[in-house]
Amino acid sequence: MTAPWWKTGVVYQIYPRSFLDTDGDGVGDLEGVRRRLDHLAWLGVDAIWLSPVFRSPMKDFGYDVADYCDVDPLFGTLADLDRLIADAHARGIRLLLDWVPNHTSDRHPWFVESRGSRTSPKRDWYWWRDPAPDGGPPNDWKGAFPPDIDAWTFDESTRQFYLHQFLPEQPDLNWENPEVVRAMHDVLRFWLDRGVDGFRIDVAHGIGKDPALPDEAPGWHGIPHAALNEHPSTHAYLRAIRTLADAYPGDRVLVGEVYQLFVRAHERYFGRNDELHLAFDLPAAIATPWEADAWRDRIADVAARLDPIGAWPTWVLSNHDTPRHHTRFGSEARARAAAVLLLTLRGTPFLYAGEEIGLEDAQVPRDRRVDPGGRDGCRAPIPWDASPTHGWPSEDAWLPWPPDAPTRNVERLRADETSIMHLYRRLLAARRASPALREGSLTLLDAPDGVLAYERRARGERFVVLVNFTREAVPCEISGRVVLSSAGTDPGRSDVLAPDEAVLVACGSSS
Ligand code: GLC
Repeated sequence: MTAPWWKTGVVYQIYPRSFLDTDGDGVGDLEGVRRRLDHLAWLGVDAIWLSPVFRSPMKDFGYDVADYCDVDPLFGTLADLDRLIADAHARGIRLLLDWVPNHTSDRHPWFVESRGSRTSPKRDWYWWRDPAPDGGPPNDWKGAFPPDIDAWTFDESTRQFYLHQFLPEQPDLNWENPEVVRAMHDVLRFWLDRGVDGFRIDVAHGIGKDPALPDEAPGWHGIPHAALNEHPSTHAYLRAIRTLADAYPGDRVLVGEVYQLFVRAHERYFGRNDELHLAFDLPAAIATPWEADAWRDRIADVAARLDPIGAWPTWVLSNHDTPRHHTRFGSEARARAAAVLLLTLRGTPFLYAGEEIGLEDAQVPRDRRVDPGGRDGCRAPIPWDASPTHGWPSEDAWLPWPPDAPTRNVERLRADETSIMHLYRRLLAARRASPALREGSLTLLDAPDGVLAYERRARGERFVVLVNFTREAVPCEISGRVVLSSAGTDPGRSDVLAPDEAVLVACGSSS
């Protein structure tokens, strides 16, 4: 049996607002994604995950959905999305949508109806509760953002509170209600029938709630409930969704955002191979510092959690919620070494648009900040060329450009074979060509201080990866042929790792 594409492939996350604008409103759109499919094909990615493009008042920039089955006019039309899916498929690129099952927008007709009266047929689609005896919220849960917000908002007209793990404009759906489950399943079928290849599931760990809505456990008061929610019912909801997805042909995939603070149990979300196909382990995945020991521990930890249950890891360095890893790790040399790491680990890598050109976060002046969660920097627009508008129709994109856009842009880096973008392309090609890198075993190896070393092996093919996390050159026995180095195009063979250098070493065949 050959492995499904989502195990061997590489997924590229697009934050559509920031990818490319084509209609001049300063916000990226679906046509912008379609026009750059050739860039993605050139790079060699296997699938795109689009952050939400559904109708939305954009309080959380699309993660507040007002209609799950239509495209927001800001991004285009359903026909544009159909065209994008078809054109991506024509290039062998699959397309995942971002499904937000935990909450809707407060403008979604379901919530508008629910809020209308206590006797509304949709009242129970959300979590409505009477005030506590003191008139305050029904329990002590905190929302994820803005900082220190209650997870409850009082509705004046019906004199009850409703629950929201995120903004007040993002009321939580009540999955205990079978009508909600049916409606959300219909949403999934709507898109699967249209040919999407799967979904990234927002806040997958948070869908189920204890209907008693108790106060936080001792010690957890004041920590956003969103990060801790882990109710057994969530697993039943995910199993039903998995059954639905698996009934479709073509290896549709469900990849869940599992974002847990303090508790760490993303392995639970695979079930017995009957819940998520893939799960992010956030924030651990993106919080690992650039240190050899930290990565060694993390790799061992992932294997210890997932190998026994036969689950497949995901690897991610950046996304739309966190400072970019170039910014976090502090230099392009490290971003290059991190690319070698990300694309040679055992599991499915997720790239975040712009990391292939080594983008850093934009410096966003106070008067241009727009995100209630403070995440603007990593959402800066992608510079496509060196012109003043960087390939966008005007200079006035919705956020400021990232640093060095006149030099750090797709056109410039494509013309430079030594650029980080070519490094990504070579890594993607090496992965595609190698069973050991795509599906092989991973064994951690002994290495000098500050160096991470591991072996990937399959069907007689063997690679060793060495990553120098230090800013010093490290003497290192490299027994094999260096086929790729983060530091240059033609590394040849050597027995020293340059500062911040990562190398991929072919060790010939063995069995
Ligand atoms: C997820 C998304 C984030 C969003 C939140 C609420 O964490 O990644 O961008 O704000 O869910 O939907």
